[in-house]
Amino acid sequence: MRRVLAIGIGAGDLEHMTVGAIRALNQADVLFEIERGVEDLTALREEICRRYIEPDRRHRTVAVPEPRRDRAAPAYGAAVEDWRSQRAEVWERLIEQELDSEGCGAFLVWGDPSLYDSTIAVLDLVAARGRTRFELEVVPGISSIQALAARHRIPLNRVGGAVLVTTGRRLAEHGFPLLVPSRRRRGNPDLLGRLSWDRGRDPRLRAAGRGGCRDRGPAGASPRAQGLDHGLLPPAPSA
Ligand SMILES: C[S@@+](CC[C@H](N)C(=O)[O-])C[C@H]1O[C@@H](n2cnc3c(N)ncnc32)[C@H](O)[C@@H]1O
Repeated sequence: MRRVLAIGIGAGDLEHMTVGAIRALNQADVLFEIERGVEDLTALREEICRRYIEPDRRHRTVAVPEPRRDRAAPAYGAAVEDWRSQRAEVWERLIEQELDSEGCGAFLVWGDPSLYDSTIAVLDLVAARGRTRFELEVVPGISSIQALAARHRIPLNRVGGAVLVTTGRRLAEHGFPLLVPSRRRRGNPDLLGRLSWDRGRDPRLRAAGRGGCRDRGPAGASPRAQGLDHGLLPPAPSA
């Protein structure tokens, strides 16, 4: 059966390539290269291939045309869904045309394929269409979050706490999830404070006309309830 690999290649540092990613890269007969037209990223991907693919390993690079994504569409979710299904049509055709029945193709994914990346979702759509059969293998990579934490020499979580990963779009819509230090915190390192969505404070968000209410988060729950959900706050002391 055909194999398709989604290989995490790290967040832009050649040394982020894991042993598993290098092994996977060397199994591919075809490298599918999405045509994004971002020259420095293309150059870096080429450098990764030059450095890590064995000189005697034969492979081809196949350009994958990228359908236009409507970034101005008011319904973000629907626009992404539409774009993904257009991509699935293109990818299906290329997997069918470019890989023989036992062939192995690879998509190189910046960072880790599980984080804000649609490669896995699009390949799942291709599989769901049922016209082409392949086995999918996902090879994890160093994500931008791990790279960022390492560069700043910080852990991501507080002891026993959750980690919230969110998007710039959500920050613009709902404000910055802010921990307001609790007055009770002094002398008690376990009390972090109150979670607030800081829509009113950030001048960039105010300038975008999004100032105002600070007492509701994206899910409609109170900030305190959300903070508890995310493990950011200790439970309120009983009266
Ligand atoms: C579409 S997401 C892909 C995330 C990626 N899959 C990962 O695991 O990090 C692209 C965003 O990741 C972040 N990012 C990726 N590489 C980065 C890097 N080297 N430095 C800083 N941010 C990076 C930026 O916020 C960028 O807009």
